[in-house]
Amino acid sequence: MNMMAPQSATPVSPVGLCCYALTVNGEAKEVTSYRDTSLLLVLRNELHLNGPKYGCGLGECGACTVMIDGIAARACVIPAYGVRQRAITTLEGLGQRDALHPVQQAFIEQQAAQCGYCLNGMIMTTAALLRAHPCPSDQHIRSALSGNLCRCGTHQEILCAVKRAVQLCLQQPGTQP
Ligand code: FES
Ligand code: FES
Repeated sequence: MNMMAPQSATPVSPVGLCCYALTVNGEAKEVTSYRDTSLLLVLRNELHLNGPKYGCGLGECGACTVMIDGIAARACVIPAYGVRQRAITTLEGLGQRDALHPVQQAFIEQQAAQCGYCLNGMIMTTAALLRAHPCPSDQHIRSALSGNLCRCGTHQEILCAVKRAVQLCLQQPGTQP
């Protein structure tokens, strides 16, 4: 009987860094991090994707929201190593500069920002909501966005933007990431 411990498939350096692949915005990316390094830090510092913002770093403000397998998730409290087999979407993967995602388009049309720091997380949470629920009620929208904080108090404009996004998504089926 072989009493040796099973070998990890992930190369680990002597100082504990792991080399592995993440699927981000439809592309496989090689990254190196500690096992407990957050997805947010890997996305921003290794892959230079600055759509997810660093707000609280505690999973409480929503500024860092990305989609993991189409579901909104807080990248600051999820180890990147733990989502190796999952599909990660950041704001950069939602639309292109010349072909905006309907949610991006709606937020611009409604001018739903002051400083804008919360906006990327709001957009990602909205996109995930509309993937699962194409016609949410006002109450459903408020509930879905209740964990995304906006210090500038633009909640009413954001609600209008989400409702506009609902219209645009229904007019442009097939645009969901
Ligand atoms: S930075 Fe992730 S929830 Fe605040
Ligand atoms: S627009 Fe400033 S935090 Fe929301």
